[in-house]
Amino acid sequence: MTDLGTAQRTARKLIAGAARIVGFTGAGISTESGVPDFRSPDGVWARNRTVYYQEFVSSEADRVEYWRQKVEGWPAMRAARPNAGHHAFVALHEQGRLAAMITQNIERLHQRSGLPAELVMELHGTSTEAVCLTCGDRIPMDEACRRVTDGEPAPRCKRCGGLLKPATVSFGQAMPHDVMVRAYAATEACDLLLAVGSSLVVEPAASIPRVAKRAGARLIIVNREPTPLDVIADVVVHGEIGDILPAIV
Ligand code: APR
Repeated sequence: MTDLGTAQRTARKLIAGAARIVGFTGAGISTESGVPDFRSPDGVWARNRTVYYQEFVSSEADRVEYWRQKVEGWPAMRAARPNAGHHAFVALHEQGRLAAMITQNIERLHQRSGLPAELVMELHGTSTEAVCLTCGDRIPMDEACRRVTDGEPAPRCKRCGGLLKPATVSFGQAMPHDVMVRAYAATEACDLLLAVGSSLVVEPAASIPRVAKRAGARLIIVNREPTPLDVIADVVVHGEIGDILPAIV
């Protein structure tokens, strides 16, 4: 039997007693798969300036910088494999107790771990494809990155000439409305929200745990660092996700 601390024992008990669990993840669940998160000391924002949506659409130089960052980060994302944290959510799904998997993550490790695509709600889109901002045509990220390295620093849509952008939601870009509606509905109907690997500082995603609490659900936060929502959580477990999640699920 793993020697669980009090917080882990309480989390384990709450999860065992829950029937309709909603998972909520941030980049912290994928660092053990080799994908850097954003706000850790070695995270994406420690090395890259943020290119806002308005800058992307209005400046060729900013589009070139945005694509440079994406092409640099793609190999680690592409090579990543799901880890014990992802598999813990699959276990809940296999027990029929995972009502939804809401994620801020863009690398599709939840889908690659075996969760059905319709269960995964990608609030911030995905980096696995590029999308034309004019006609909506999509191409695989492998193809988009190849075109950048082959001499198109900011590739355009082959169909209509529009701007191609990784299919993620940038700061200043509209959130996917239908995904947000489904995520809020699942959150309002759950009996426990398990928030894992997020600094919970980016809105509107970070409001999801609040919505769960307001709807009467239990809230468990698993994260290496404290978050602003620790104060409203029923249990907070600080430490490495790969160790904690299998022990409490
Ligand atoms: N185990 C536990 N916690 C971890 C681990 C780990 N192995 N690795 C990282 N963490 C924690 C970090 O301490 C941090 O608090 O995960 C958290 C990740 O926070 P962020 O890097 O801010 O990532 P996230 O919360 O997903 O960011 C939200 O911000 O930049 C935007 O669109 C981007 O979706 C992203 C959003």
